[in-house]
Amino acid sequence: MRADATIIPCVSGPLDDDTLMPAALALREGGLVVFPTETVYGLGANALDPHAVRRIFTAKGRPAGNPLIVHVPNAEGARALAGHWPETAAALAEQMWPGPVTIVVQRGPSVPDIVTGGGPTVALRCPDHPIARRLIELAGVPVAAPSANVSGSVSPTRVEHLCPRIRAASEYIIDAGPCEYGLESTVIDLTVTPPTLLRPGAMSRASIAAVVGPLSDDRSPSGGSPARSPGTQGKHYAPRAEVILVEIPASGEAHCRRGINDHLLRDRDQRGKIAWVTHDPECEEVLSAAASVIVMPSSPCAYGRRLYAVLQELDAAGMETIAVHLPPDTPEWEAVRDRLRRAALR
Ligand code: TXA
Ligand code: MG
Repeated sequence: MRADATIIPCVSGPLDDDTLMPAALALREGGLVVFPTETVYGLGANALDPHAVRRIFTAKGRPAGNPLIVHVPNAEGARALAGHWPETAAALAEQMWPGPVTIVVQRGPSVPDIVTGGGPTVALRCPDHPIARRLIELAGVPVAAPSANVSGSVSPTRVEHLCPRIRAASEYIIDAGPCEYGLESTVIDLTVTPPTLLRPGAMSRASIAAVVGPLSDDRSPSGGSPARSPGTQGKHYAPRAEVILVEIPASGEAHCRRGINDHLLRDRDQRGKIAWVTHDPECEEVLSAAASVIVMPSSPCAYGRRLYAVLQELDAAGMETIAVHLPPDTPEWEAVRDRLRRAALR
């Protein structure tokens, strides 16, 4: 077997082209490179090279029908890959790029089938991370990159969280420390009217709606006709431990909290070592038998930044169940709740 990837440390110090060039050349020549973005780490390949892109699917164990996001250095690069570039795309690119918004448009002829899962559209994103942007520029090709995790599991927000399989499949890993947002980009379908939110993410629905008008929600059925965004179907973002979600009414009286504790502990034998994760310091002691208690930040952004790291740490600590206090059903928590809900699906 090939040796593990070469690590390029970029955590501190100036960013220079000589440091990034070997990884950029590897990308251009069909290699796989793990690189930082403002959301999560990506596993990149030359989007115009079907063989290179196939290596991503193999490394991740990703179903062939689940298309990849193509990362570009600017709006011009995106436009070159689109079959049609609607005004809404121009407006979003102008106002939100570089940034954590991915836009889905009709694909152009240069985009290989394997990138789009054979579908008629392509997802495009211009990341807001100096290393990602410079790497893509130096590579001189658009870069297809899903999150750098095995399909279905938690996305890495730091290099320490990359699993051995992804490490072994990559030529280079660029380590730039923890990602700023910690949750993936927001994915918007602009091929339909009104624009549709396919995946809530690091950019809020409200900020995107301020540019393109109100967004409709993806209501594609989970069976039958093909999903609009296959990656948003079914269980995903899940640690090895079983995740269970716990709703606690904001005005939760003591007896209600006791009830929750009793409920969670009823099946204690099956649950094994259990962790309790809450965003409310007042609920720190709700789960009396917790082997580990994590009090998360109470702001949605800071919570999102920490979430995947916490799930990874609890897995590493041998937890078998992670009970998560579900944050409120308000717009600011939309992306966090989406990831928690998906992590908890069986
Ligand atoms: O923040 C991010 O978006 C990260 C970083 C690395 O850029 N990337 C990422 O990629 O999250 P991935 O592959 O893990 O998730 C991409 C999502 C999937 O749910 C996929 O189904 C959807 O975008 N997607 C990709 N192309 C699509 C298309 N043409 N139409 C609809 N959905 C698409
Ligand atoms: Mg992913």
